[in-house]
Amino acid sequence: MAAFSSSCSWKTGGLLFSVLLNYLIVVSAGNFYRDFQITFGNGRGSIHNGGQDLTLSLDKISGSGFKSRNKYLFGKIDMELKLVPGNSAGTVTAYYLSSLGATWDEIDFEFLGNVSGQPYVLHTNVFTQGKGRREQQFYLWFDPTADFHTYSVLWNPRCIVFYVDGIAIRQFKNLESIGVPFPKNQAMRIYSSLWNADEWATQGGRVKTDWSRAPFVASYRNFNADACILSGAGKTLCSPNVNAWLWKKLDLVRQSQIKWVQKKYMVYNYCTDYKRFPQGVPKECKYN
Ligand SMILES: *[C@@H]1O[C@H](CO)[C@@H](O)[C@H](O)[C@H]1NC(C)=O
Repeated sequence: MAAFSSSCSWKTGGLLFSVLLNYLIVVSAGNFYRDFQITFGNGRGSIHNGGQDLTLSLDKISGSGFKSRNKYLFGKIDMELKLVPGNSAGTVTAYYLSSLGATWDEIDFEFLGNVSGQPYVLHTNVFTQGKGRREQQFYLWFDPTADFHTYSVLWNPRCIVFYVDGIAIRQFKNLESIGVPFPKNQAMRIYSSLWNADEWATQGGRVKTDWSRAPFVASYRNFNADACILSGAGKTLCSPNVNAWLWKKLDLVRQSQIKWVQKKYMVYNYCTDYKRFPQGVPKECKYN
């Protein structure tokens, strides 16, 4: 059972990943016009600079959002974000992958704003088969509103890893062998939205959105998906270097990064919330 604790290397069995891999060139430098569509916000979300930049904005009337045109089934997906500067209290910028239906899978980054000078919280979660309740929250080691930073997800049949500027902050291993569902059959789109959540987002809901500061704006650039895309015909088309990440597991360096981040920057961990789980924390906690 040593494989459990050491990395995402838990054996998945050769046949589990039965998707047909076609080695076609399906990725290139991102273009927001090509890869995404604005889903709501009546002009508050917009694409600029020939598809290189995207911004979402939020005012008292509405937030805004976008989603990917493609559906992905595994990938290494990077996006650079610059979050709402100044007093962003009450605002939430959500950036996530999600499938549809009652038993959906989801991989979440949510950025909870704060009053000027106080730290954003990066909230993460993983839903499998419609069940989440796996929140981990972090402070960042930089000001995420001063500049663009890269937020990435590695999602393959062995594990899900969250990265910030290439530093692993969280993993969720495939632990199906001990009965924890793992997202591997449902393709997901990428979604993002900027919205008002001042009932809960900032300092537990005590600080409300200051609408005199609106509009609030978050910016995106340099999207890159090294991924497998579900085509209309139900085939999966993977990027040419799929083998570089599809079976990748966390190496020791990355595992020590997670330990470092969790020690220094973690705000909340469902795995240590014994009040919330009096019957015992979820099984996966022991191995992640
Ligand atoms: C906002 O700042 C306060 C005070 O530093 C901190 O306790 C809180 O975790 C920060 N983030 C959010 C989202 O409330």
